[in-house]
Amino acid sequence: MEYITKINEATAYINEKLEGKRPLCGIILGSGLGGLADVIENQTIIPYSSIPHFSQSTALGHKGNLIGGFLGGKFIIAMQGRFHYYEGYGMDQVTLPVRVMKKLGISYLFVSNAAGGVNRDFKVGDLMIIKDHINLMPNPLMGKNMDEFGPRFPDMTRPYDLNLIKMAELIASKLGITLKKGVYLAGTGPTYETPAEYSFFGRIGADAVGMSTVPEVIVARHSNIPVFGMSVITNEAHDFAEDFVNDGNDVIIAANKAAEKMTRLITTMMSEL
Ligand code: HPA
Repeated sequence: MEYITKINEATAYINEKLEGKRPLCGIILGSGLGGLADVIENQTIIPYSSIPHFSQSTALGHKGNLIGGFLGGKFIIAMQGRFHYYEGYGMDQVTLPVRVMKKLGISYLFVSNAAGGVNRDFKVGDLMIIKDHINLMPNPLMGKNMDEFGPRFPDMTRPYDLNLIKMAELIASKLGITLKKGVYLAGTGPTYETPAEYSFFGRIGADAVGMSTVPEVIVARHSNIPVFGMSVITNEAHDFAEDFVNDGNDVIIAANKAAEKMTRLITTMMSEL
């Protein structure tokens, strides 16, 4: 079956569930950050397993629901859990939901993730606005260009929307939330980084590292959707000598703890969009 047919069938199914309401914003909730979904009002919960051509969420801390409802008074659609390349899905499967959200009519895409702090000033629990990224995964736009979504050679000068970043900074200062800002580097995972890799990523300009987000951002930017990205720092880069182990469960616990801060920030941003 052609990819565009899959996109259209998934879109039609979701549109029917949402009774034709157009979401202003799509929100992708990363590992341990699904808690934001609890404050969405008037929820329509659509399990991924029921949506034609959607994959299953197998990753730790990912629930696998698409949720329509109101956040900050705006009708939005949230993905409680995403699809990762390391799960064995192709990039077309990883980014299918973004194409579908475009077809559903979103005006903004908000993405979030749990990430390792590469910048030595970053501490566990910090929130980082993503101002730019480094893609070390395969590019999801490889292959025949989907002209109806965007150009063959998309511009990436401003991958993250400057107005949304300004808005987040203003709101965070009003709410008393401290924000870091930095560059997110996406690798394939599923291994965490070696000490030498953390050090290398720092040298090439990364402040945080993770295994997601960038594929979705590239596909969103292809079709000119303004993007806002946020990383929760769940662990800190470590040196070789340290007695330290990176553990997926600790990452989820740290993300859960910071989720409340992120939820307040994003909810207020929605109310001002
Ligand atoms: N590396 C890659 N992905 C991650 C990390 C990390 O240190 N922490 C959370 N996701």
